[in-house]
Amino acid sequence: MTATPADLPDADQIRALRELADHLARSAGSLVREGRPERVAVAATKSSEVDPVTAMDLAAEAHLRALLAEHRPGDGVLGEEDGLQPGSTGITWVLDPIDGTVNYLYGLPAYAISVGVVVGEPDPAHWTPVAGAVHSVPLGVTYTAGRGQGATKDGVALRVNEPRSLATSLVGTGFGYTVERRTHQARVLAELLPRVRDIRRIGSAALDLCRVAEGSLDVYFERGLNPWDLAAGQLVVQEAGGTVTGLRGAPAGVAMTVAGPSATVSDLVAVLTGLDADRDA
Ligand code: IPD
Repeated sequence: MTATPADLPDADQIRALRELADHLARSAGSLVREGRPERVAVAATKSSEVDPVTAMDLAAEAHLRALLAEHRPGDGVLGEEDGLQPGSTGITWVLDPIDGTVNYLYGLPAYAISVGVVVGEPDPAHWTPVAGAVHSVPLGVTYTAGRGQGATKDGVALRVNEPRSLATSLVGTGFGYTVERRTHQARVLAELLPRVRDIRRIGSAALDLCRVAEGSLDVYFERGLNPWDLAAGQLVVQEAGGTVTGLRGAPAGVAMTVAGPSATVSDLVAVLTGLDADRDA
């Protein structure tokens, strides 16, 4: 079910949810920063042998869930590692304990804690994001947003870039973990690369979205995002004046997410639709 305006928290409640999201993301960030061993080991794999889970993914999610049980016991929680625990308030916290696990594994400085707060079904097709925080662990910076209340990076207001042509746009993207998906993504990339300024594959979807919001990427697209990759970063982009959408009139979600200044997003959506970038073949 999609939320109606009457279901949405008021401005003070949104402020409080944003503050708590900020606190949670920083707190889990400290845990991840201080607990990082010299060499990180893979604890398990998920969709393929190159889709890792580390002990710290599990520990950080447990930490976030414990804080939520203390501060917001009636709310639902959807986390990357432990799934959905339904709540009774209509509010769900959507958690990625480490977004950019491969970077964390290799010690590359682009991984983040993502804490989104949504109303309605915790599914990008139906939810309304109302607050969120993304904490970059290696850089120690935090992006936050509240619905109707703007987006900030460590307290400084964010604004997406002015729209520019695709030919002069720096485009962020990411790739799935299965051979079938990557084969088609490689074809899409081969067609797109000659038409844009350049491509960046940073390795954390939540940070890619925040980069669009701060203007260090012009636009971003990816097929295969999960709700926890998207919930907080989507709101950060929207509150920084950007658009976040899918292809063929669909909302952003697993099939495709495109984020950036509205006019650039329209141009990129047209190209990606022509390339069937929301399909696997
Ligand atoms: C992944 C990262 C990556 C994106 C993948 C995500 P994870 O999240 O955000 O940039 O390309 O689609 O699954 O697995 O590190 O939490």
